[in-house]
Amino acid sequence: MKITVLTLFPEMFAPLGESILGRAQKKGLLDISVVNIRDYAENKHKKCDDYPFGGGAGMVMTPQPVGAAMEAADPRHEARRIYLSPKGRTFRQDMVFELLGYDHIVLLCGHYEGIDQRAIDMYTDEEISIGDYVLTGGELPAMVVCDCVARYVMGVISEGSLVDESFSSGGLEYPQYTRPAVYKGVPVPEVLLSGDHARIDEWRRRQSEELTKKCRPDLRGEKK
Ligand SMILES: C[S@@+](CC[C@H](N)C(=O)[O-])C[C@H]1O[C@@H](n2cnc3c(N)ncnc32)[C@H](O)[C@@H]1O
Repeated sequence: MKITVLTLFPEMFAPLGESILGRAQKKGLLDISVVNIRDYAENKHKKCDDYPFGGGAGMVMTPQPVGAAMEAADPRHEARRIYLSPKGRTFRQDMVFELLGYDHIVLLCGHYEGIDQRAIDMYTDEEISIGDYVLTGGELPAMVVCDCVARYVMGVISEGSLVDESFSSGGLEYPQYTRPAVYKGVPVPEVLLSGDHARIDEWRRRQSEELTKKCRPDLRGEKK
């Protein structure tokens, strides 16, 4: 799968080269490229923002460099073009599977007061928000989407890790424990040391159910 990020701040994407995502790219399972929108600005000073028409605080990203960067990244409009925006559809685990249906996604990051609306209308297919709050830029949201989608690209992490985890079947995951068996006097639940897999599965199922009921009743269709 190919992911292209369009941003004014490419240095912010260093974390995508680390850990599981870094290894996945080295193995060729994932191709993430980060493009500097500023490289496409046609004016002498490579300026990419300007004052908003109609007045108001802050600066708005101009349409020309955004449009030119998008045309270079996806010349025949074959990719799914996504603008990260607080006005978009809220990102949820089930949307990952929609995005995995595309061979190439382009993530467009706004900054300042956002992007000139004409560039959004002309050059993007949809807007995705990572939650009801406003960040300084679309870079962190783009990394959230990249990370989440990349986990599900075949071979990036073991398939076993993707079942039974939070949201995979609607609820939250059961608590996990590892060595030592007793930490500062607190033992792990006895059943986990029993070797009885039927009992362990049943304990985990009940824990998951109780935790979901307590912390996220909305996932069970109940009121929060
Ligand atoms: C300061 S925000 C602009 C907010 C815009 N003026 C508004 O009120 O809707 C700058 C950029 O950050 C990104 N951004 C901020 N919050 C976001 C969120 N919750 N989800 C996705 N992107 C977000 C967008 O790309 C946006 O263009």
